[in-house]
Amino acid sequence: MSDGPTYGFDTLQIHAGARPDPATGARQTPIYQTTAYVFRDADHAAALFNLQEVGFIYSRLTNPTVAVLQERVATLEGGVGAVCCSSGHAAQIMALFPLMGPGCNVVASTRLYGGTVTQFSQTIKRFGWSAKFVDTDDLDAVKDAIDENTRAVFCESIANPGGYVTDIRALADIADAAGIPLIVDNTSATPYLCRPIEHGATLVVHSTTKYLTGNGTVTGGCIVDSGKFDWSANDKFPSLSEPEPAYHGLKFHETFGPLAFTFHGIAIGLRDLGMTMNPQAAHYTLMGIETLSLRMERHVENAQKISAWLEADDRVEYVTYAGLPSSPYKDRVKSQYPRGAGALFTFAVKGGYDACIKLVNALEIFSHVANLGDARSLIIHSASTTHRQLTPEQQEAAGAGPGVVRVSIGIEDANDLIADLDQALSKASA
Ligand SMILES: Cc1ncc(COP(=O)(O)O)c(C=O)c1O
Repeated sequence: MSDGPTYGFDTLQIHAGARPDPATGARQTPIYQTTAYVFRDADHAAALFNLQEVGFIYSRLTNPTVAVLQERVATLEGGVGAVCCSSGHAAQIMALFPLMGPGCNVVASTRLYGGTVTQFSQTIKRFGWSAKFVDTDDLDAVKDAIDENTRAVFCESIANPGGYVTDIRALADIADAAGIPLIVDNTSATPYLCRPIEHGATLVVHSTTKYLTGNGTVTGGCIVDSGKFDWSANDKFPSLSEPEPAYHGLKFHETFGPLAFTFHGIAIGLRDLGMTMNPQAAHYTLMGIETLSLRMERHVENAQKISAWLEADDRVEYVTYAGLPSSPYKDRVKSQYPRGAGALFTFAVKGGYDACIKLVNALEIFSHVANLGDARSLIIHSASTTHRQLTPEQQEAAGAGPGVVRVSIGIEDANDLIADLDQALSKASA
């Protein structure tokens, strides 16, 4: 595709980053199933290794199939570049890696995927990093949590599991004033429903495992850079602003400008952490992204219908879907998520924990799995699975208490999904 006119989302999700294969004319992006690439000559090899020329060296760093996906996601998110990696969790580490150092912290929302809460509250401590969790609806608490060692604010746009929507603009303003980036996990919203960079985010991370692939086939992750952050404005980000010993003193920000974060992610992050996406996974995700807008429209339409039906049902205590007129987030949805509030939410079943377990066991179309963003409808009891490692207080703060189940509404016939929930709720409340 040329850099010509600005194309619409539906066009970009099919074409951005791709072009007919120069060697064969293949119209679909080939799976470049190769580890290494032949250098033209020794000077070419040296230039690639010195980052003086952009090209392919070794597939731990770059691969042509993965490169198409990187450009596609960056374009859809409105960023300048992206780095794909092996999972959403890898993307989170890759996003923090250039920013943090021993003693540094990230201010993170309490409403995050349970695995992220565990990654941030436990695992990153081994790098000497830490996380401070705050309710990101309480903007004063966010401001108060930021200290001289804070290197980023981290939130999810549509938070897993409750489907709560975040005021990205407000958090971006706070991060900006503190001279640090806002990182938004946009997995549940996808760029079709929300483009965090337009609301002031510096970096966007994805678990491409979910809606971007859309069919539950492969794990993957991606970090998109807005290209807008001045990494040299203060002394907080030496990995990007100071000389890099492994590249003979090259300064990433000075050398690559708005692409500094992306180049660092490939040249240091993938090179040394090795959390690489493989070309097969990139292929499946590219296939999925081609239909992203169509699927998201149906996901949202179904979630809207099903959440309204559940809310009106006597066997259900409450529903957290932010697209409902009763949601405290309805104005925020209108301004920052105008195409809808996604398809992920929780509902509380009368009868608490036991009723939730019976419901999950009785469903026939909904699959009981630890995943979201599949074409299929999925359900999970978060408190006993994805949020199991969390304390009861953390579970409640994340919206994953013992009396709620989380659903990821698929793109099947909504009436069939309602009938399935109806029969399972009857069994759960029997
Ligand atoms: C919102 C969110 N972010 C990140 C992740 C982690 O992604 P992955 O499983 O691809 O590592 C998940 C996984 O469920 C998620 O729901």
